Amino acid sequence: MIDLIKKLPKAELHLHIEGSLEPELMFKLAKKNKIDIPYKSIEEIKKAYDFSNLQSFLDIYYAGAAVLITKEDFYDMTWAYIKKCVENNIIHTEIFFDPQTHTKRGISFETVILGIKQALDDAKEKYGITSHIIMCFLRHLSQEDAFKTFEEALVFKNIIKGIGLDSSEIGHPPSKFKDVFKKAKEEGFEIVAHAGEEADVSYIYEALDLLEVKRIDHGVQAINSKELLKRLKEEQIPLTVCPNSNIELKVFNSYKEHNIKKLLDYNLLVTVNSDDPAYFKGYLNQNYINLVDNLELTDEDIIQLVKNSFKASFISDELKEKYL
Ligand code: ADE
Ligand code: ZN
Repeated sequence: MIDLIKKLPKAELHLHIEGSLEPELMFKLAKKNKIDIPYKSIEEIKKAYDFSNLQSFLDIYYAGAAVLITKEDFYDMTWAYIKKCVENNIIHTEIFFDPQTHTKRGISFETVILGIKQALDDAKEKYGITSHIIMCFLRHLSQEDAFKTFEEALVFKNIIKGIGLDSSEIGHPPSKFKDVFKKAKEEGFEIVAHAGEEADVSYIYEALDLLEVKRIDHGVQAINSKELLKRLKEEQIPLTVCPNSNIELKVFNSYKEHNIKKLLDYNLLVTVNSDDPAYFKGYLNQNYINLVDNLELTDEDIIQLVKNSFKASFISDELKEKYL
C-alpha cells in the first residue's frame, strides 16, 4: 500500500507555503538576514514544535516567517517545497500564501508574490509540475485590513487564482469577511476558506452561504451535523483535510480517532493534504501513510482520495479529464 501511495501521481490543495519553511532554511535565513529568532540551533527549533492547539502553532509559525526578507528567500522556500513535490509525486499543487504576515513587517507584496511565482514557473519548466496560487486573508486581522491587501493583490490578478481565509479560527467567523469576499467573487477569484478545523459547524455554514466557497479547508467538524453532511455530499463540496495537522494541533487525540474514513465512506469529496509540512512531521505521502497505518483504508480508498485531489482542484476540465 505504501508503494501504491508513492507511485500515484497526486494533487495537493491545502499547503501554506510559509508552513513548508524547514528549520534548516529558517536558521540559515535568520543568519543571513540578521533576524533574531528565539533558538540557538536547528535542534532547538525542532524541539519548540510541540503544539496544544491551533493558536499555539500559529504563534511559532508567524515568528518563524520573520526570517523571510528578500525575493530570493521566498524563491528558495518555494523551490524547497517543489523538491518535496518531486519526491512525493505531486504533479499539481495549489498553494496558499499569507501576504499580511509579510507586509506587516515591511516586506512588499511584490517581493513575496514574485519570489513564489518564479519558483512555480521554474517547477513547470523543469519538472512539469503545475500550480495555482491562493492568497489568504488572516482572519485575526480586520476586514478593513483584508480590503487593503485585496487592493494590492489586484495588480497581480493574473497570477492569483483564488482567495482564502486562514489563521485563528475561533472568534473570527467567515461572516466577519463577507464584504471583501463578495468583492473577490465579483473580480472572478475562486473562493475557499478554512472552516470547521477547530470551530463548530456554524463556521462551515457561513463559509458556504456567506462567502460562497468552492471548497472548505479542513471541515472535519462537519461530522457533528447530519444535515451538513447531507448537504456536503449532495453538492459534492470538497473538504481539504490535513491529517497530520489535525493530530499535531490536537483536533483529534490520535490517528485512530481521525474521521476521514467516515467522511469518505459517506461519499464526501474529501482530499488529503499536508497543511504546514515543515511543522507537522511530514509531507503529503507521510499523511497518506499515517492514515493507512492507523485506519482501515483499502487500496480503493487511496485511489479515491487521489482522484478526489484532482476532481476538487482548480485545473481546467480538459486537464481533469486527462488525470481522472
Ligand atoms: N495557517 C497555517 N496553517 C493553518 C491552519 N492549519 N489553520 C489556520 N490557519 C493556518
Ligand atoms: Zn491550513
